[in-house]
Parts: sequence; structure tokens; C-alpha cells
Amino acid sequence: MAMQIDDVVTSNLVPQDPATLRDLLSAGKKVPPDGTALLMQDHAEVRAMFQQHETEASDRMKAVLAAKICSALTVHARLEEEIFYPEAERALEDDDQVEEAIEEHSEMKEQIGKIIEGLAAEGAVGPGVQQLMQLVEHHVEEEESEMFPDMRGTDANLYALGAQMAARRVEAFLGLKRSVDEVQARL
Ligand SMILES: [Fe+2]
Ligand SMILES: [Fe+2]
Repeated sequence: MAMQIDDVVTSNLVPQDPATLRDLLSAGKKVPPDGTALLMQDHAEVRAMFQQHETEASDRMKAVLAAKICSALTVHARLEEEIFYPEAERALEDDDQVEEAIEEHSEMKEQIGKIIEGLAAEGAVGPGVQQLMQLVEHHVEEEESEMFPDMRGTDANLYALGAQMAARRVEAFLGLKRSVDEVQARL
């Protein structure tokens, strides 16, 4: 017999937040994504943009992609630093993973700053995007193979973190768009 929604919800196919997931689904409410899944989705999108950037022939498209990569990473880093990392610091206790991640974020931000300066001055990107890609690959690999699995084993409420980050992301993108509009208005 085909699986019913109840079977899916009560099986291990769906990550369980046992007290609430089933209730939320049966009440027809949207379930916020698990915070680690939301962050990994961002990682996958950025990886795809880096790949597109590598194979893109047009300089103009390369510049557009570089700008998109920079804004996606800026918002992603903000969500992690403001919402996910503080909770990771609490839940993982005594762990230097968060400290290391923040240091890697500052290297990435420095690199993003150089790319944006290049785009503003010449409208083109040099080897900066390649360097940023290497930094991001290393950092994302550590998050996905260490920090996120470790967090899944703690008492952190990953669904609540996911919901907070989803809401914060909308605000962050609007803020970013406002500052881009302000710069353009001054040109
Ligand atoms: Fe990160
Ligand atoms: Fe990340």
C-alpha cells in the first residue's frame, strides 16, 4: 500500500522535532527548515554560482556573477554570525570551531571587499574570485563535515534557528539592496 502522509511523518524519513512536527503538519502549517539545511542550501547555491563564473566566457556576465556571489556570501555570513554561531558557541561548549569559523569569515570579507573595489573601479574582476572560491570551499567543507553534524547532536533547536535565519535573511537582503541603491543614487 502506498505511504500516507502520517507514515512519512512518523517514519525516520523526515527529521523529527517530535513534539511539534506532526502537529504542525496536520494543522496545515509550514514547518520552518532545519537551520543547518537552510545554510547548506545557501552553500550549494554559491557553489553553483562559482562554477558558472568559472565557465562563463563574457566579462560582463562574470562581473554580474561576482557581484551576486559577494552579496549572497555577505548575507549568509551575517545569518551565521548573528544567529547560528552564537547558538553553536553555547551548545558546543568549549569548542574552538566557532572562533575558527569567524576568523575564516573575516578573510572572506576582506577578499569580498577587494572584489567589490575592483568591480567599482574597473567594472571587471581579476583572480580575486578564484581566491575567494578557495577560501569558501575550505570553510564550507569544515562547516558541513564538523560544525553542522556536531550541532545536530546537541540540544539546540535547529528548527527555531532555521525560522529566525529565514526571517533575518529577508531583512538583510532588503538592507543590502538599500545600500546598493544609495550608492547608485550618488553616482
Ligand atoms: Fe560560515
Ligand atoms: Fe556557511
